[in-house]
Amino acid sequence: MLFTLSSCGGGKTDKEAEKEEAKTEETKSDDKLAGCDDFLKKMGERNRLTCAECDFVFYQNPVPAVAAIIPRGEKIVLVKRREQPHRHDWCLPGDPGVPPGITATVHEFAYNDPDQLRDLLLHYRGDVAAIIMTPVGHDFDAQIEPPVEGFLETVRELADEHLAVLIFDEVRTGFRVGIGGAQALYGVTPDLTALGKAMSNGYPVSALVGRSEVMSAAQSTFISSTYFPNGLSMAAAVATLDLLQRERVIDHIERIGSTLAAGLADIVAETGLPVTLSPFPQMPFLYFDRGLEIGQDERRDRFYASLANQGIFAHPRHHGFVSWRHGEQEISALLEAVRTAALTAA
Ligand SMILES: Cc1ncc(COP(=O)(O)O)c(C=O)c1O
Repeated sequence: MLFTLSSCGGGKTDKEAEKEEAKTEETKSDDKLAGCDDFLKKMGERNRLTCAECDFVFYQNPVPAVAAIIPRGEKIVLVKRREQPHRHDWCLPGDPGVPPGITATVHEFAYNDPDQLRDLLLHYRGDVAAIIMTPVGHDFDAQIEPPVEGFLETVRELADEHLAVLIFDEVRTGFRVGIGGAQALYGVTPDLTALGKAMSNGYPVSALVGRSEVMSAAQSTFISSTYFPNGLSMAAAVATLDLLQRERVIDHIERIGSTLAAGLADIVAETGLPVTLSPFPQMPFLYFDRGLEIGQDERRDRFYASLANQGIFAHPRHHGFVSWRHGEQEISALLEAVRTAALTAA
């Protein structure tokens, strides 16, 4: 399988390593739960994900962790449209299992549309608990969308102006678009960040990290579950974070992803396949935009079925991830398969 949900990233200079070593010495934790103390230290070492003073909460799923920590009461939460198709009441507006009272406290705004967000904030002035969004637009069945210039900065300003907690969902972008996630890439720091997936190489653990002032809400919130905390997942996360740095994994996935992106662009140009390409080499996606041609659904199905028949699973409506395990050989094999599939689909 060439695309996997388990890639991750890392890499730093020797100076940074020294600084972080010193910081580890300072990092103390009273949490002696299975594996938690080790993991806390690791996260402390790699604290560049958010502001300097960070606190942490672990859970198996990031979305409930976010829900637990926001002291929202009857307050409104603004969610980027189609953002959270996950199993939690406020992620499922209109679902028959969700009481209308809860749905009524969640309002959606479109990615890269600061005016819509501004209007919502004005409409619900004084009543908005939080703004939750991915810093990069990566909706299901849509091409990945980077933030337009100034968008994230404006969101940050609006959140401050309206005293709303800004939460970035970096479950996919964390440890992938850079060691510091999308927030470091674009230089905009949220109040809270949800992390998962690459953080533990697919093992079931997530982290909610953020400003101490906001995280202090966790002190008065009951957070638990049957499998929490899970020592195996913690050990996986510790090992993954080590590997990210030791092997400079982020550099690798950027390099190998760029080779793949260049190859895909060549094939698309040669075959005229009507797709758009992902702007992030770490998260490749050949997207059959319905607006580009008639018969896109059929073409997409032929293309992805051909890839599957050649032994490559890539989701037709969701980007993939380049992983540390992908090397030149896998990328060449993938490109060859894509060329065959493109000719089949055209
Ligand atoms: C962007 C994003 N956020 C969150 C999640 C997962 O949230 P949870 O595990 O709480 O369902 C996913 C899972 O696919 C995701 O892609």
